[in-house]
Amino acid sequence: MANHEAREGPSEDAWNAADYDDQCAFVYEYGERVTELLDLDEGTRVLDLGCGTGHLSRELVDRGARVVGVDRSAEMVARARDRYGGVEGLRFVQGDARDLVAAVGTDSTRTFDAVFSNAALHWIPGPAHDAVLDGVRRLLKPGGVFVAELGGRKNVESIVEAVRRELDDRGYDAEQPWYFPSIGEYTPRLEAHGLEVRDAQLFDRPTTLDGDAEGLRDWLAMFGDGLFPSLSDEAYDAVVDGVEARLEADQYRAGSWVVDYRRLRFRAVRTEATPE
Ligand code: BEZ
Repeated sequence: MANHEAREGPSEDAWNAADYDDQCAFVYEYGERVTELLDLDEGTRVLDLGCGTGHLSRELVDRGARVVGVDRSAEMVARARDRYGGVEGLRFVQGDARDLVAAVGTDSTRTFDAVFSNAALHWIPGPAHDAVLDGVRRLLKPGGVFVAELGGRKNVESIVEAVRRELDDRGYDAEQPWYFPSIGEYTPRLEAHGLEVRDAQLFDRPTTLDGDAEGLRDWLAMFGDGLFPSLSDEAYDAVVDGVEARLEADQYRAGSWVVDYRRLRFRAVRTEATPE
């Protein structure tokens, strides 16, 4: 999914966790605002779904929670354990969001007060979200809360469109590796899984990338490989040059790239009546 050889086209979950920490601090810095949507008491049990390198899991523990962080990427989980493995009340497991109960443990159903997720759910293909939401419901206690933020409808659309056009000009098709739902699309899915939506917002959050002039190129290398088919190094570089040229006038300001992030944020509660 990220930061691997874009030239070879999309592959599975090969993240470079160290580069992610170096270049993408903004992901978890913005995520701190999402953690604030959780009411935490001492000992509140939280599952951090798509915990990455664990910074927000750690933040939740600092605020009193006991946290299990789950991520599909072995490299992310290894780095999270390296950094925070000794922290009391915090553990990390590797596992697939589509089979959360298996990842966290079958004895964990109905044991979490909250499931939290920041900037992770959009990596999961749309049709698979029913399996994800089923797992979230099963892990939550009745009355437990699911708080999440993901890329919303038209997230990073200028980048997706510029890549599509540059590829099209060269006779290639672009891929769409992400799922960016609207409120109208996602909230019925939550409710179909016994997760009653109490609040949902879709909003623009223009985001300044790290890396100055290289920021967009670095972002594409870190996150964007799923957009590209198999390309030679030369063809890949030419597409990225073209993307930069297309976006420069609107999105390169005072030496930094500013990207059109849009967020879907919601808070939903597991209703008492839902079974398991
Ligand atoms: C996001 O957080 O919205 C995002 C990050 C990487 C790729 C696409 C979207």
